[in-house]
Amino acid sequence: VSYIPEDKLLISNDAFGQNIATSYRYADEHDQGDFVRAIKEYYYNIVLPYSPQVLKTLPIVESLDIDMIAPDHGLIHRGEKSVKFIVDMYRQMAEQKPQQRAMVIYDTMWHSTEKMAYAVCSGLEEVGVPTRLMSVKSNHHSEIMTELANCGAVIAGSPTHNNTIMPLMASTLTYMKGLRPQNRVGGAFGSFGWSGESAKVLHEMLASMGMDMPADFVKCNWTPRHEALRACVELGKTVGEALKKKCRGE
Ligand SMILES: Cc1cc2nc3c(=O)[nH]c(=O)nc-3n(C[C@H](O)[C@H](O)[C@H](O)COP(=O)(O)O)c2cc1C
Repeated sequence: VSYIPEDKLLISNDAFGQNIATSYRYADEHDQGDFVRAIKEYYYNIVLPYSPQVLKTLPIVESLDIDMIAPDHGLIHRGEKSVKFIVDMYRQMAEQKPQQRAMVIYDTMWHSTEKMAYAVCSGLEEVGVPTRLMSVKSNHHSEIMTELANCGAVIAGSPTHNNTIMPLMASTLTYMKGLRPQNRVGGAFGSFGWSGESAKVLHEMLASMGMDMPADFVKCNWTPRHEALRACVELGKTVGEALKKKCRGE
């Protein structure tokens, strides 16, 4: 970054940026909900792996007398309130403290894994953890990463496909792993026909990101009936309870 003391201006390069293209110049002129979402999208898809460096650098930024932060991308932050808001938001995103909210991401060919996903959501809701359900077919991996900014748990589901998980789920999780999310709780499930590798593959992928995996993965042969759906509800409840404990710092 470059700091120009005469102007109290920080030219911040990638830091504090967003991909908002608008005729407005300043962040305070833009819709705040949309602005906050764009900040999270940018951070969680680009800056997240550098969170340790962000935490090291923020105190230096805070020690400077700044009236304006001008990132290379998007809107400019002007005035004390705006500058404090973005610096505080960066600290919160970089710390990645667990948040009591979960995402259930899934792929499916014929809806069996989807039915399991609904049951996992019910389990999470039963223990009071708000949940976002996202199909990897209808949500680009960058959308899923943006949502992760609000979620302390990731539960992933895929049918078994050629002895492994579905390609879109594989690409989503590969992308997620590269961005090095920290401090999450995970869980895995999936329907299968004959060999049934997918739930275990998902479980291992999430564990390889350092996620706590408090429950066994749930696999179900073909269409889930009462027993398999009950196991999915239990998966949601176990992950939800583990997340609540993590949020309480236990
Ligand atoms: C192209 C294709 C490949 C599959 N490969 C496997 C496999 O390797 N092992 C297995 O257990 N099931 C396999 N299946 C079966 C699916 O996992 C099974 O139909 C499952 O119930 C589908 O779940 P869904 O309804 O969520 O799509 C395959 C199905 C298709 C269409």
